[in-house]
Amino acid sequence: KCFPKFDNCFQRKLGINTAASRTDRLIKKDEVEPKNGRKTFYTVEEERIEQAQRSVLISCPAKTNEKKFLKYLSRHGDINKYFFYESYGMYAVVEFVHKESLTSLLNGTAIPCINHEATMPFKSRLLSLRNTGSVDQSAPQCQSQTTIPINDLIQRLSNENSIDHQITSLTEMYQLTEENVCLRYLVCSLLKDIAAAYFPECKIRPFGSSVNGFGKLGCDLDMFLDLDDISGRNVKKPKAGLSLEYQTKRAASERAATQSILSVIGECVDQFGPGCVGVQKILQARCPLVRFAHQPSGFQCDLTANNRVAMKSSELLYLYGELDHRVRCLVFSVRCWARAHSITSSIPGAWITNFSLTVMVLFFLQRRTVPILPTLDHLKDLAGPLDKCVIEGNDCTFVSDFTKIPLRDNTETLEQLLQEFFEFYGTFAFSRMSINIRKGREQSKSEVSPLNIQNPFDAALNVSKNVNGTQLERFVGLCRESAWMLQQREFNVPHSQTRAATRDRAPWGLAALLLPSVSQAAGVKVRKNRKREPASERIKSLLESLKNRDDKTTGNGTGG
Ligand code: GTP
Ligand code: MG
Repeated sequence: KCFPKFDNCFQRKLGINTAASRTDRLIKKDEVEPKNGRKTFYTVEEERIEQAQRSVLISCPAKTNEKKFLKYLSRHGDINKYFFYESYGMYAVVEFVHKESLTSLLNGTAIPCINHEATMPFKSRLLSLRNTGSVDQSAPQCQSQTTIPINDLIQRLSNENSIDHQITSLTEMYQLTEENVCLRYLVCSLLKDIAAAYFPECKIRPFGSSVNGFGKLGCDLDMFLDLDDISGRNVKKPKAGLSLEYQTKRAASERAATQSILSVIGECVDQFGPGCVGVQKILQARCPLVRFAHQPSGFQCDLTANNRVAMKSSELLYLYGELDHRVRCLVFSVRCWARAHSITSSIPGAWITNFSLTVMVLFFLQRRTVPILPTLDHLKDLAGPLDKCVIEGNDCTFVSDFTKIPLRDNTETLEQLLQEFFEFYGTFAFSRMSINIRKGREQSKSEVSPLNIQNPFDAALNVSKNVNGTQLERFVGLCRESAWMLQQREFNVPHSQTRAATRDRAPWGLAALLLPSVSQAAGVKVRKNRKREPASERIKSLLESLKNRDDKTTGNGTGG
């Protein structure tokens, strides 16, 4: 879609590699399934970082002749791929085949002269295309970087023919596109150019939902300033004889060093970073960070340093997401459902976070009668010598090679899993039990927080400590309502009748679960305090029966 067709001859002349021009990451089973073809987290990361280093971001006039533009740029070398997108104006991402092409391009690029203002002479790979010739009439096709509005999503899902298709379709519509991922790595690369003024060997690595496979278009860009590979850190001093070391400034603690580094880099981003606006240094937070908006990409960015565990968590989530195609589908559906009902929020507070919600889905998939996902302890047992990793005293070792991970033969459908997810958490003994994906089973709670999800890499920490009782009750209430709805024929089969005016079907299945008020959709009379109570007596009795059933099967009333 975003690589508009133009004649092949011309493409060859420009050296544009159309084979690499795959657009959306479709999650067709056969594409995700080939076990041996899957790349490790670090292989993907390395490839993407390298591609980003050969790329440039160019602001273009809305009417830009695509052919002329490409011809102009390809004077500096062959282009591997490119795409246009809109974000407060039109931009193009252009990836050259060779890094040298960029050097040639930048050498021929001017620093603008502006009357009555001065420019910061910092040269970045964010450029502007000027056209002093005849005005072009055509505009290239632009790629959207945002998700479809919820109402359109509900409509599109309603027109699917099964809940399984609805879940897959939601994932396809929401997941990051190939281009959006490229843009995320490019923004990290542009930022690295700034940080490299002080730390030439540093890396800026995206983490969180940009890379863990669960990112939705529009999610924030979490970045990690990685200084660990700076040469000299691991140089061993000879036991005897002469040696040299760098003279360095000292800081009182690791935290103080991180704060100083982020403070300086934050200042540079603020003063010199083109397109970086609203820079805030949040250095007193548990994890100090610099927050800003990167206007050309439209990304809300969080830059942290010394945050290795979060990087490892991202790798773990990526691994789990790649193990079985149902994992990502279920996480996308649950995240979308939670957002639609304000269970999660973009504002920090007592809400459940997307990260916690993802861990809850993983845990649920470990707890199936035939587990879909292995425990973290099992992944640790499968690790090879190169996978060994200890961070701040915590063992974060787990296997990275997919071929070493045996999977069980679970054939449950997405519809069954979604239904069971809601039942599982609608009846989970949150008051007594904590969620632990390392062990793959619930454990007795050792602290008082309403929701206890043990940090996979430090069991003493609770990743959902922020969640209060009210929010947990809302989550449980909505799980119960949703479980109930998915059991009603009225909601779990497509409506045969279409609405006369639009020929669209009334919301059903997953689409009905996303409607603002589940109880209203279910035709249940809405009560003032609906949020805190199950919506109807019918749901209450359903849950009682679920609870009784689970008490009988597990003996502890925790379900699953
Ligand atoms: P989005 O909501 O799409 O941004 O999801 P996200 O996974 O990127 O979450 P967020 O931006 O809040 O955090 C980024 C990453 O930091 C997560 O993916 C985790 O790896 C890590 N993280 C976030 N919150 C916690 C937490 O409470 N504890 C721990 N250990 N890690 C966390
Ligand atoms: Mg994030």
